Amino acid sequence: MTSLNATSDIVSTIAADALILGYDGDVTSHDLLPEDVRTSIATAAATLEPSGKVGSVKVLPGTDVAATRIVLVGIGDGSEGDLREAAGAAARAVGKQPEAVVVALPASDDAAHSAVGEGVILGSYTFNEYKSDDAVAGYEGASWQVAGASEASIDRARIIAAAVAGTRDLVNTPPLDMFPAAVADVAVNYGEQLGVDVEVYDPQRLADEGFGGILAVGMGSSRLPRMVKLEWAPDDANAHVALVGKGITFDTGGISLKPPKGMETMKSDMSGAAAVLHIIMAAAQAKLPVKVTGWLCLAENMPSGTAQRPSDVIRIYGGRTVEVLNTDAEGRLVMADGLARAIEDNPDVVLDIATLTGAQGVALGTRTSAVMGCESVRNEVVDAAGQADELFWPMPLPAHLRESLDSKVADLKNIGEPAGGMLSAGLFLKEFVGETPWAHLDIARPAFNEGSAWGHNPSGATGASVRTMLRFLEARAGV
Ligand code: BES
Ligand code: MN
Ligand code: ZN
Repeated sequence: MTSLNATSDIVSTIAADALILGYDGDVTSHDLLPEDVRTSIATAAATLEPSGKVGSVKVLPGTDVAATRIVLVGIGDGSEGDLREAAGAAARAVGKQPEAVVVALPASDDAAHSAVGEGVILGSYTFNEYKSDDAVAGYEGASWQVAGASEASIDRARIIAAAVAGTRDLVNTPPLDMFPAAVADVAVNYGEQLGVDVEVYDPQRLADEGFGGILAVGMGSSRLPRMVKLEWAPDDANAHVALVGKGITFDTGGISLKPPKGMETMKSDMSGAAAVLHIIMAAAQAKLPVKVTGWLCLAENMPSGTAQRPSDVIRIYGGRTVEVLNTDAEGRLVMADGLARAIEDNPDVVLDIATLTGAQGVALGTRTSAVMGCESVRNEVVDAAGQADELFWPMPLPAHLRESLDSKVADLKNIGEPAGGMLSAGLFLKEFVGETPWAHLDIARPAFNEGSAWGHNPSGATGASVRTMLRFLEARAGV
């Protein structure tokens, strides 16, 4: 089992597969290493021309130390963000299947030590469930020891890293095995372990209560949709936050079928729901004094004889009608149901997390997520992201684009003006939040890394938005 612990031992004396040290033009960790050992490592390292650039890695044999090798990693400016990234890059460079690793990066406070702990767990993440080689699939992870860290900083890192890794696991699991009812089962199991109330709405209940968006999107699949309500409600709650997650377990586009290339990564279309689930479980583990209600909008978007058609008119929860002109703009349909239901409980604020539009990537690229909505909540998300070192950028919801969503036959149509497609999608969702303060997080491209690993981000699912939202909840909780 991967484990994360603090150590106060002299790091050069700990037997391990690797000792990770920082580099900033010189070998760091002055107070964690005897000076003569540090000097000899610096001399040996000099021949390799190490760089202080964040994440740049050099591997040395472990002469003078009890570890088999030394991984020297550039720590950039030494900020929390750079330490997390450096720790992640170093963890990936340790070599295959280590058992024990000592991490001695120059962290000056609890927040920085947490960042280092998160970085190594997130950087060493692998998804091997589907490898048939026992040596690969059976590897249980290393014991990571963070030098000089407090227990509290490590506890926090464990909770955050587990939430991000859990989100990645759910998203990386192939859609054959991760369909709406399977996600609901995962939620029920977690809820039982952590004292979070979980309620699963089956298709009959969805029909009885009028969740026409989720039903319309899900009815093309033989594996029918679900909605999951999660609730962490501690007695000492200082606020009530509602979270709605897009959980399209696979997005073929439906009858408006995507081309094959566009479909390859569409198991990632449940990243919002996976994030919401793990954010709530982490809030419960950390016992955050904030009530959090989560809504997972789960459906598989498939073309079939029972699928919805372009030009169908559906009825969203609460009664408003939508003309579906493109069945590939399905996310906003399931999210409309979730948002309309979420605000009925009068939360202080509602946030939705969705891999909503390809236009997000056109506007902001593959690593920067967008946040739209009320100015104050939007700014709060940007602040939380800054503190969590995730890339989020505020985007507008220009009122003039709203009329592109007018329909001739229904209250709204599900596609608007194509230029600025991320913004018209946001404007569509805005129709369903009433007066509740709201922000919409479009994580379409950042949720899934199609390229190779960088920093603490592996290729595949990244867990984008989880760290930001945990910071957001902490702030609302007043901690
Ligand atoms: N799930 C996609 C958005 C997406 C695209 C996520 C690429 C991640 C990577 C969404 O359901 C979708 O298909 N959106 C359409 C909307 C369009 C039909 C208005 C899109 O972006 O092309
Ligand atoms: Mn789609
Ligand atoms: Zn989608």
